[in-house]
Parts: sequence; C-alpha cells; structure tokens
Amino acid sequence: MPKNQQVILKQHPEGEITADHFDVIQAELPELKPKHFILQNHFLSMDAGFRQWMNENAGDGYLPGMQIGSAIQSIVIGEVVESDNDDFPVSSIVLARTAWEEYSLLDGGDLCSLLEVDPEMELYHYVGVLGTTGLTAYFGLFDIGQPKQGDTLLVSTAAGAVGNVVCQLGKKAGCRVVGMTGSDEKCDWLKTEIGIDATINYNANPLCDQIARTCPTGVDIFFDNVGGSQLDAALQNISDNARIVLCGAMSQYENNSPEPIYNSWPLITHRARAEGFMFSDYQAQYPAAIKELADMMKSGSLKSFVNIYEGICSTPQAFSDMIGGTNRGKCLVKLI
Ligand SMILES: NC(=O)c1ccc[n+]([C@@H]2O[C@H](COP(=O)([O-])OP(=O)(O)OC[C@H]3O[C@@H](n4cnc5c(N)ncnc54)[C@H](OP(=O)(O)O)[C@@H]3O)[C@@H](O)[C@H]2O)c1
Repeated sequence: MPKNQQVILKQHPEGEITADHFDVIQAELPELKPKHFILQNHFLSMDAGFRQWMNENAGDGYLPGMQIGSAIQSIVIGEVVESDNDDFPVSSIVLARTAWEEYSLLDGGDLCSLLEVDPEMELYHYVGVLGTTGLTAYFGLFDIGQPKQGDTLLVSTAAGAVGNVVCQLGKKAGCRVVGMTGSDEKCDWLKTEIGIDATINYNANPLCDQIARTCPTGVDIFFDNVGGSQLDAALQNISDNARIVLCGAMSQYENNSPEPIYNSWPLITHRARAEGFMFSDYQAQYPAAIKELADMMKSGSLKSFVNIYEGICSTPQAFSDMIGGTNRGKCLVKLI
C-alpha cells in the first residue's frame, strides 16, 4: 500500500536545531472527506519563522506550538489530486499552509490560495520570490518601509530568502542598500550577485560603529529580520522619520532568554515608526503583487536565488542548514 511520508517533530529543540530533532515516518494516505480536497505537494518551503513554533510551549495568538509526533507545519505548493470542494478542483495548483508531508487533506480554510501559474515560470518560484517569501519582502518594504529615492535601507539576514528580495526591491526603488549577514563570503555574494551598495558582517564588532560607518547619513528604513542586539544597534543609527519594519526575530527563536532592547529613546527623538506585520495580513492583495513580482522577474530586474534539496528525507537537513545560515536566497525541498 502506498504511504504518505511525513516529517515529524521528534523532540523540542533547546537552542540550536539539528536534523536529529526530526523523524521521517510512513503515515497512512489521507482519505477524502466532504468539502475537502487532497493536495499532492510538489515543493516544501523552508521558512525560518516556523522555527519559533518548534520550541516547547511555543504557541501564541498566531499559530499553535508544534507537538512531538506531529508533522511540521509549513508552507507548500501542490496540485489537487482529489476534490469534493468546488473552489479547489482537481488539477488546480494551490499554495497552502499545511505540513511537511507528501499528501495533505485540506478544506481550503487555512491560508490556501489558488494560483494562476504563469507558464513561463518554474513552479518552485511560487514558494520563493513569487510565494510568501517574496510577498513578505514586498509588503513589508512597500507598505511599512515606504521607500523613497535616496533613502538608506538597512536589511538584516540580507543574504537569506526574504532579505535578498528586500535588497533587490530596495535597489529598484532607488534606495542605497546596506545588507547585514554573518560571514564575509555572504557579504561578497551580496555585493556581486545582488548588487547592493555596502555590507556588514555582524560578527565583526562593534556593530553600532559599523552601521554608523556604512550609513553616514543615518538609516531611513531598517528591515529587521533578527531583533535583539542587531535591532538595538540599528536604532542607535536611525534618521528622522525612520521606518522600522519588524518582520522577524531570528536572534530570539533559539534563545531561551529574550534579549532586551535598550535604545527606545532614538525612536522618540527621531519621530520614528516601528511596525510589525505578518504576510498573511495581505492575502487579498496576493494576485496583484505576484503579477508585479513576476513581471520584474521576466524583465530581469528581480533575480531568484534558490537552494533546492531533493526528496522529503532531505527536509530535516535542509531546514537545519537554512537556520544555520548556509543558504544564499531561498531554501526549499522538491518532492516530485
Ligand atoms: N512577518 C512575516 O510575515 C514573515 C514571513 C516570512 C519570514 N519572516 C521572517 O523573516 C526572517 C527571514 O526568514 P527566511 O525564511 O527568509 O530565512 P532566511 O533568511 O533564508 O534564513 C535564516 C537566516 O537567519 C540568519 N540567522 C540564523 N540564526 C541567527 C541568529 N541567531 N541571529 C542572527 N541571524 C541569524 C542566518 O543568516 P546569516 O548568516 O545572515 O546570519 C540564516 O540564513 C525570519 O525572521 C522570519 O521569521 C517573517
């Protein structure tokens, strides 16, 4: 009998995650229920943000914490292979929040979007630049960051999936873009492949001085994927009316003691605005944004960088490599 391979949580990580925190199991294939459909998943998206919900007692108002023995929550893209739901007919392509598994039984409720796939585009782009990754960069930068020609845009985890798209969109918007990342190799990659103006290796201290040197007129927009000490250092260098886009908190996901923010005073004296957001807030605007991003890709003004792992058994390694920082751009797993 064919089975549904799933990647489950074997134990809650304490600190750094490794492939050993997961197991691959053979579960039963899901059976179609009324008003549901079955998605055969083609690509699993490796999203750093989900690391947060793998910790013990991690649930919050946005998502429940992941449980030992359960398949790992994830964004996926797949094709409907059985359906009793008129909104998601057989053969349609769906972007969904479901799990690391080959087949998912869904009712269309939890962040399921029917995709119109552009025949000129590879399907995997729809979990990368044209998926939640690119959409996070797009809405965070344009709606909250509100870039203007000549602004200095500072981006943390700049070489990662969301970060590199923010850098590219920022350059297109006429910003001077400065990217922070964790190694000199990734700094070189950001300059040569992404074409940003300056880089900072955040491991070379003191970070605050490095930001001051590379952003001499101040930071107009800080696109923050990290929080903690990187956010604190950026706040010491903001300009008047700066916008702080609170997108993620990488420094906190594997840290049991949240880092304090000491520098809230510059937010006041510089009349700055710090605002958090979730990509899912913008679901109604996905089709128009995806089209705009796809047009940029076709014209060559937006590049897609992917690290593709093959087969569901590679998922634990793919995820821990991505959190560990080996990726340049988007990390994903190809199932079929
Ligand atoms: N608000 C939303 O709706 C939304 C949606 C999607 C993603 N996000 C957020 O966007 C951020 C990036 O996610 P992604 O999926 O694109 O991942 P990613 O940037 O491709 O990969 C994660 C990167 O984080 C860096 N990192 C790991 N541990 C760190 C630490 N302790 N301190 C500082 N940096 C660390 C590593 O890069 P370096 O080598 O550069 O350190 C690693 O490559 C995450 O914070 C995520 O939560 C938010």
